[in-house]
Amino acid sequence: MVRNDDTIAYPGPASRAKRALQESTSPHVIVLFGATGDLARRKLLPGLAKLVVNELAPEMQIVGSSLDEHDDESFRAFAKASVEQFAPGAMTGDEWEEFAKRLHYVSSGAGPDALAASVAEAEERLGPESRRLHYLSVPPNAALKVIQMLAAAHLVARSRVVMEKPFGTDLDSAVELNAQIHETFSEEQIFRIDHFLGKEAVQNILAFRFANGLFEPIWNRNFIDHVQIDIPETLGLDDRVEFYEATGAYKDMVVTHLLQVLAFVAIEPPTALEPRAIIDEKKKVFRSLLPIDPAHVVRGQYAGYRDEPGVAPDSDTETFIALKVGVDNWRWAGVPFYLRTGKRMAEGLRVVSIAFKEAPRSMFPAGSGVGSQGPDHLTFDLADASKLSLSFYGKRPGPGMRMEKLSMQFATDELAEAEDVLEAYERLILDAMRGDRTLFTSAEGIESLWERSMPLLENPPEVKLYQPGTWGPNAIHQLIAPNAWRLPFERPWR
Ligand code: BG6
Repeated sequence: MVRNDDTIAYPGPASRAKRALQESTSPHVIVLFGATGDLARRKLLPGLAKLVVNELAPEMQIVGSSLDEHDDESFRAFAKASVEQFAPGAMTGDEWEEFAKRLHYVSSGAGPDALAASVAEAEERLGPESRRLHYLSVPPNAALKVIQMLAAAHLVARSRVVMEKPFGTDLDSAVELNAQIHETFSEEQIFRIDHFLGKEAVQNILAFRFANGLFEPIWNRNFIDHVQIDIPETLGLDDRVEFYEATGAYKDMVVTHLLQVLAFVAIEPPTALEPRAIIDEKKKVFRSLLPIDPAHVVRGQYAGYRDEPGVAPDSDTETFIALKVGVDNWRWAGVPFYLRTGKRMAEGLRVVSIAFKEAPRSMFPAGSGVGSQGPDHLTFDLADASKLSLSFYGKRPGPGMRMEKLSMQFATDELAEAEDVLEAYERLILDAMRGDRTLFTSAEGIESLWERSMPLLENPPEVKLYQPGTWGPNAIHQLIAPNAWRLPFERPWR
C-alpha cells in the first residue's frame, strides 16, 4: 500500500526518513495570505504546526497576512486557538512555544514594502538558502491583487505560489486568470491545490493500479462495466452561503474534486512516478473527456435552500448534482462514469466503485442468487481511515448451489503505520515546498475541464427538489438505469 512518501525512498526508521525529507528541502518562509480566514483556521495553521512538531517540514518561518488588524502576539493567540480547536492534543506547551516563535504578522493593508520587510526579517533568521512559499488562501479576485503585491514587493524570485480553487468559473475566466497569473509567475511556480488529491486514499488508487499485476490487465472497457464516484455530504452550507450561492455543486465539487479523482481512476500508466509524467497522463484523460451533455445531468436543490438567509428566493443554484460522463479513448470508450455529490444528503461518504462485467449466468439454476446483488465490485472508500473492498459471488455453505455476495476487505487502520498518514493539506504543503507538482492541477488540465463543462454551463437543466437527508431527486435513477446507485450499501463495511 502507498505510504505518504511515494516520491522519496524512506530508508528505515521514521526518524531517519524525517531527516532525509528535511534535508532535501530548503528552509522556507511561508507567506500565508488569508491567514485569519476559515481555511487557515481549520486546516493550514494546524497543519503547519503539525509539520513543524513532527519534524517533517524543513526550517520554517511563517508570515501571516490578511485584512484584519493583528500584531505578532495577537496572531499567535489566533493561531493557538485554531490549533487547540482543530488539532487538539497535537502538541505540548513547549512544542507550541517552539512553533509560535516562527509566527509573524503583517496586515495586507500595510502594502508591499511592509510585506517585503517582514519576509526579509524572516529570511535573515533562516539564512541565504531559504525559499519562499506564498499560500494564497483568498478568493480569486483577491488572488490577483495578492499576486500584484508580491510582484511589487519583489517576492517572486525563489518562490512558489499555492492557489486555492476556484480556478475560474468557466473557460474564458480560467484562461484569463491563468494568463494574468503567468504575467508574474511561471507555470512551474504555480501549485493549484485540490485537497482531494492530498488524501492518502486517493493516492492509493495509483498504487493499487500500478504496483500490482492483478487488476491493471482488466482495467478497461472489456472487463469494467461502469464506474461510480459518489461523494454525498450531510453538511449544509454553514457560513458559506455567499460563496455557495454563486458557485453550486458542479463548480464547487465536480470540476475540482470528482473529476480529479476520475483522472486517477482512468489514467494510462505514467512512464514514471514523477510529476511531469503523471501530469501529462492526467491532461490526456481530460482531453479525452466527452463534453458534458446536459441531458445526462440531474441538478438538485434541497427543499428549504431558498429559505436560507442570503439565498435568493428564486435561486437556481444546485446543491446536488449527478451526471454521466464518458472518457473517449481506447481504454474507456463506452464505459459510463457516474458522478454524484450534494449537500444535506443521507450520509457523508467518499466512495469510488468499479463495477465489473457480469458472468453469463446460464449454468446456474434459476433462483441460485448469482447476479442478484449486482455485479462484482472493487470499492475504494476515500475516507480519512481509508478502506478497500473486492466483492464477488461465492457459494453459501450447505446443500445445493446458492450464491451470495462475499467480500475481501482491507483498511488502512490495520497497518502499523496508520498514524503516519498526513492530513491532505499537510501532505500538499510539504510537496509544494519540495517543488513536487505531481498532485497539483496544471493550467492546461483545468482549462480542458472547463472546456468540456461549457455545454452544461450554457444550458443547465432545471433544478429538481430533493428532501434533506435523502440521496437526491428521483431523476437520478433514470440517469443510471439499467444500473443502480450503490449508495446506500446493502451491507456495511466490516
Ligand atoms: C471543499 C468544498 O472543497 O470540499 C466543500 O468547497 C466540501 O463544499 C469539501 O464540503 C469536502 O472536502 P472533505 O475533505 O471534507 O471531503
